[in-house]
Amino acid sequence: MTLAGVRVLLGVSGGVACYKAVALARGLLKAGAEVQVVMTAGATRFVQPDQFAAITGRPVYADTFTDVHRIVHVEVARQADVAIIAPATTNVIAKFAAGIADDLVSSTFTCLTVPTIVAPAMHTEMWLHPATQAAVDVLRGRGTIITGPGVGALAGGDEGPGRLEDEDVLLDAVHRAVGRPTIAEPHPLSGRRVLVTAGGTRERLDPVRYLSNRSTGKMGYAVAAVAAELGAEVELVSAPTALDAPAGVTLTPVESALDMHAAVTSAAPDADVIVKAAAVSDFRPAQVADQKLKKGTFGAGEGGTVVRLVANPDILAELGTRDDLDAVLVGFAAETEDVEAHGRDKLARKNLDLIAINDVSATDAGFGTDTNRVVILGREGFRHEVALTGKREVARVLLDLAAARLRS
Ligand code: PMT
Repeated sequence: MTLAGVRVLLGVSGGVACYKAVALARGLLKAGAEVQVVMTAGATRFVQPDQFAAITGRPVYADTFTDVHRIVHVEVARQADVAIIAPATTNVIAKFAAGIADDLVSSTFTCLTVPTIVAPAMHTEMWLHPATQAAVDVLRGRGTIITGPGVGALAGGDEGPGRLEDEDVLLDAVHRAVGRPTIAEPHPLSGRRVLVTAGGTRERLDPVRYLSNRSTGKMGYAVAAVAAELGAEVELVSAPTALDAPAGVTLTPVESALDMHAAVTSAAPDADVIVKAAAVSDFRPAQVADQKLKKGTFGAGEGGTVVRLVANPDILAELGTRDDLDAVLVGFAAETEDVEAHGRDKLARKNLDLIAINDVSATDAGFGTDTNRVVILGREGFRHEVALTGKREVARVLLDLAAARLRS
């Protein structure tokens, strides 16, 4: 009875996955929780409220105008220790983010002050829509726990990200949210040390100018966030980005490739997994001016001035030569032509365990996007394609593959 005494509010919105919410309610009850269900009108078209009422032994509310004198949405929110909205449709997620309260589930959501889990379930196109992704970001930023979606078979014979997460994953999220020991098997990365790099390094030319690249850090931050959610101790060595450090992650800010080299070199011996998602500048100006360079420095006319560049260390390749390291080494390859062949070459040349190759000439993948599409290669000849999906989902696949290669 791992959830004994815990009062769970289960919000169900209208999607094909509603039937799985019945199993989730049973699982919560089996773990000892008290379960109060609220539904949207759409959800009642998929599952009868009586079904939940019979299982939970409580009335189920699906209409804001039932028992108006009790102000049900305020009452059920106040009585909960934790809330889980499963399945959460695109529609309710957008409402939660915008603060719209025009049905019982969204009205209840706006009254919640307890840890709240949102478990999205929808078609892949809806999940990847920028409006959905933006709403999810807003919710995450406010501390809502987003669990899923899973990847796999969807209604109508489709396949991709958008499945309601499995019951044990959702139960696990509820346990974590209320600080109870989880019932699911811990992920192999739980308690392991994961070192992640992110962002594009900046190579100074003078106090106000630098050379850099288009990396926003989104991919690396997604890896760090997912690793922390899986229970790993995560250090994120990050070049400058506009992103907040993910919850539970230790952030080590750096600026240049040399700074990143120093930070990674010192953290690497303790790491079980190293994921290098940063776009490291291969070159830096040979000289950094102390003062802002004047226009005249560069000469007038067409001839211009030569800025001499020197090579930066290849941090990942250097890690690949160190036989004192125990870590699973994971690189990314940012390619624009012969994408897989160049990535395969980097896997071998840098002596990596895994490499995720992304085509950075695509508009929906690589730099700056919330989505990515990668081919993952392993040193043992393994090959796996991840079709277009969110960067968090790419991170999860990569971390699962890295976890399967943990050494000690
Ligand atoms: O940050 P985002 O906007 O989300 O964009 C994500 C991304 C495109 C930056 C990311 O998905 C990605 O591809 N990261 C690696 C970018 C890169 O530098 O690739 P590369 O092919 O040049 O380098 C190969 C690997 O060696 C990388 O793991 C890189 O971190 C590492 N490297 C490269 C050069 C160098 N001097 N030191 C390194 O450690």
